Amino acid sequence: MAKAQVGSGTPVVELRQATKTYRTGETETTVLHGITFSVKKGEFVAIVGPSGSGKSTLLNLLGCLDTPTTGQVIIDGTDAATRSSDKLADLRARKIGFVFQAYNILANLTALQNVELAMQITEMPREERNARAKELLEKVGLGHRMEHKPAQMSGGEKQRVAIARALANEPPLLLMDEPTGNLDTASSLEVMDLAEDLWKKQGVTILLITHEKEIADYAQRTIFVRDGRIEKIVEKKNRGAQS
Ligand SMILES: Nc1ncnc2c1ncn2[C@@H]1O[C@H](COP(=O)(O)OP(=O)(O)OP(=O)(O)O)[C@@H](O)[C@H]1O
Ligand SMILES: [Mg+2]
Repeated sequence: MAKAQVGSGTPVVELRQATKTYRTGETETTVLHGITFSVKKGEFVAIVGPSGSGKSTLLNLLGCLDTPTTGQVIIDGTDAATRSSDKLADLRARKIGFVFQAYNILANLTALQNVELAMQITEMPREERNARAKELLEKVGLGHRMEHKPAQMSGGEKQRVAIARALANEPPLLLMDEPTGNLDTASSLEVMDLAEDLWKKQGVTILLITHEKEIADYAQRTIFVRDGRIEKIVEKKNRGAQS
């Protein structure tokens, strides 16, 4: 399939009138009320909003980790609902990199093994996976921590392992849910500088959830969410991947 140019108008993901209602016992709670927006290839978008406003729910829909109650999630031009669960799992593994606040890397595996594991779904031979995992860890500045397990690493280091893992299959889209939420200022800046680099130099499309204004400032566009609705969208004209 031909790759779209960075900055072109092709949406990588799109929500159309997406709603989400959770049912807990007898109670139904609607946490997303008809959200519509798209992320174009090569964009860097931040989602900001108070706790409980629906940000993670939104990101989970975009990443096909969850399905909307009504409305559509369009990934790469195709309605996610029309794909089988196998196809969706494959699409998630190949097209989307996930980074979460709590790192979600496996405690009993080394940094290297955590990154290698993400490539198991590919046909890549073992030696190639090993070489690529090493290369990725070097890239995130962890060449000296490859054999360390999560318990032997700082929060910033663990998050960089998670980013290396997220990039393992060269996904065109990176979804980050509070990636700096557990980090001190210095580690947060390291992680964000890395994200910015991926966006600018490799054309990775990024959608990032954050509470912090300094973190949202890295994005080109900020979507403010409140009570499951988009409150406003602020575009920063002076930030472009080509700058
Ligand atoms: N599985 C679930 N079942 C029932 N309610 C849920 C479920 N998941 C989330 N919620 C509710 O949906 C609302 C939105 O949750 P969500 O996790 O999307 O918020 P958020 O904006 O990411 O908040 P935070 O900034 O604290 O991470 C919250 O009120 C939450 O309690
Ligand atoms: Mg959340």
